[in-house]
Amino acid sequence: MPTALITGASRGLGLELARQYCADGWRVIATARSPDAAPELQALDQQYPSLHVHALDVADFAAIDALARALKGQPIDVLLNNAGVFGPKAKAENDPRQEFGHMDYDMWAGLFRTNAMAPMKMAEAFVDNVAASTQKKIVTITSSVGSITQANGRTIAYRTSKSAANMLMRNLSFDLKPRGIITAAFCPGWVKTRMGGDAAPLEAPDAMESLRRVIDDLTPDTSGQFWLYDGEIIPW
Ligand SMILES: NC(=O)c1ccc[n+]([C@@H]2O[C@H](COP(=O)([O-])OP(=O)(O)OC[C@H]3O[C@@H](n4cnc5c(N)ncnc54)[C@H](OP(=O)(O)O)[C@@H]3O)[C@@H](O)[C@H]2O)c1
Repeated sequence: MPTALITGASRGLGLELARQYCADGWRVIATARSPDAAPELQALDQQYPSLHVHALDVADFAAIDALARALKGQPIDVLLNNAGVFGPKAKAENDPRQEFGHMDYDMWAGLFRTNAMAPMKMAEAFVDNVAASTQKKIVTITSSVGSITQANGRTIAYRTSKSAANMLMRNLSFDLKPRGIITAAFCPGWVKTRMGGDAAPLEAPDAMESLRRVIDDLTPDTSGQFWLYDGEIIPW
């Protein structure tokens, strides 16, 4: 039975990914900042003996190391960096702190830590677990708004943190190739979650089913690409 480790599984896309991998018979290590405050994850935990829940704030790098020590020797087929933060929303929340002229630099650094640096730290901490698995995949959920080709302004903190995460996954595809590890960056589409909002056209179950199919099909030859959830390649 393959194993997936998913960060940010308390709600939204991470929770849906955990649900689908469990339903498919995978062993799932689901991490969440505060599992006690995640009733849907707890319900899943009751339903599936193959689900293992751990508390993890991905911005706490010592905590990542501690979890890696606890999971030492356990193969992880798919390491899924899903946890992410959007930051202040100028339109929806009338909060311009990531717009030109109003940048909150501490907030920006915080977004970078969670969205871009934590996936690197997770890869460093769990690389032996991934290398010991059958599938050997490290996947980070980034966003098409991190595409430099498609950039059209605004939400600078979020966009730059996701561009950095894309750059990370591209580079790791080279650095980890000798160990047989495949990497990928994914835009999940615009999906109804707390981050995506109610106006999003996609439902999480459909988008994540499609995204998981693309993960299933990743090969060493397609490592280091930036994918849309439906298998299209997104320009960097
Ligand atoms: N939904 C979309 O349309 C969309 C589009 C493009 C990209 N994405 C990306 O998809 C991923 C999932 O987003 P979502 O739509 O599911 O958003 P969401 O509903 O806001 O969920 C975000 C998840 O990330 C977790 N998280 C945030 N900071 C964390 C930290 N420091 N440590 C651990 N967990 C943390 C949250 O945990 P708490 O419950 O503890 O806050 C929550 O589980 C994100 O990386 C996001 O940027 C989403």
